[in-house]
Amino acid sequence: MDYAATGQEALSRIAAAQDLDTLEGLRVEFLGKQGSISGLLKTLGGMNPDERQSEGPKIHALRESVTEALSGRKAGLEGAALEARLAAERIDLSLPAPDMPRGSVHPVSQVMDEMAEIFADMGFAVATGPEIEDDWHNFTALNMPESHPARAMHDTFYFPDKNADGREMLLRTHTSPVQIRTMLERGAPLRVIAPGRVYRSDSDATHTPMFHQIEGLVIDKGIHLGHLKWTLETFLKAYFEREDIVLRLRPSYFPFTEPSVEVDVGFTLVNGKRVLGGQEGWMELLGSGMVNRKVIAAGGLDPDVWQGFAFGVGVDRLAMLKYGMDDLRAFFDGDVRWLAHYGFAPLDVPTLSGGVGTAA
Ligand code: PHE
Repeated sequence: MDYAATGQEALSRIAAAQDLDTLEGLRVEFLGKQGSISGLLKTLGGMNPDERQSEGPKIHALRESVTEALSGRKAGLEGAALEARLAAERIDLSLPAPDMPRGSVHPVSQVMDEMAEIFADMGFAVATGPEIEDDWHNFTALNMPESHPARAMHDTFYFPDKNADGREMLLRTHTSPVQIRTMLERGAPLRVIAPGRVYRSDSDATHTPMFHQIEGLVIDKGIHLGHLKWTLETFLKAYFEREDIVLRLRPSYFPFTEPSVEVDVGFTLVNGKRVLGGQEGWMELLGSGMVNRKVIAAGGLDPDVWQGFAFGVGVDRLAMLKYGMDDLRAFFDGDVRWLAHYGFAPLDVPTLSGGVGTAA
């Protein structure tokens, strides 16, 4: 019997099988109970020992090679089927959605997040207050009674009607009224920052009628100017990501702080441009001071027990200084090209460990 030819034919039919069903059909045809090769094996029983000695190994070898070819082809077909299925069911989650406008985070939001992150690390919580404020919280409680000249300096937007309590209503001119609200609501001790919009009737390259401030307020026992200086220094070093930030505290005046200090930060001239750090020159950065006793009392606390410091800083100005914008008005134009240039990736959340200063 020509086993070689039988084997050849079987192997080439196995190799040509295009699917698993066909292959299973071939397995039954060759190796099933009634299969042709199984039939050959059965013939061994009727042979004499000599024949069996010479034919046995050939038939076994034939069965062996067919078995092997079947399982090899089976693995091949299964692999190809899996590949095809994976290709058909593939979803590339990394693909950007087509033709969708991409949003970005406004530098003002970014800077507020950066500040919140830095101050959170120093144990400050975030407080808020209304943008439509009454004149008591915005002025009177902050030691600016009705006749106080400082009121005139604020270029206030007033509403024509008083509120139900007969209080004059206005758009808050600073975030300082949140000091009063927070003391009244939460008592002492306190460590808060209050970011938000403020309004003044003023407009040029460095002033817009609406801008942003962050107020800081610490109320506790035994608080002094050193705590204020350390806090601002620590904040500014983290914010500008430079160790060589130098502060200069200048005596100043705010009705709600006593003493009051204007804080300047040193800069260096690099190719004619001011870069923060060093002390070749000074620029005015923020107002601050020890909370006035009258303000602590207006907040419902005993000024003989509680002391504190407060500061207020322009968020927009901090953004300009760090990210190099030169016209404040562009912040509020809503020009998508400006936003695309200066905006921040939505998932680029500022963290102290990752660096709050991730460049745009
Ligand atoms: N409210 C002041 C301003 O808008 C800033 C300030 C806040 C000063 C807190 C001292 C203390 O100019």
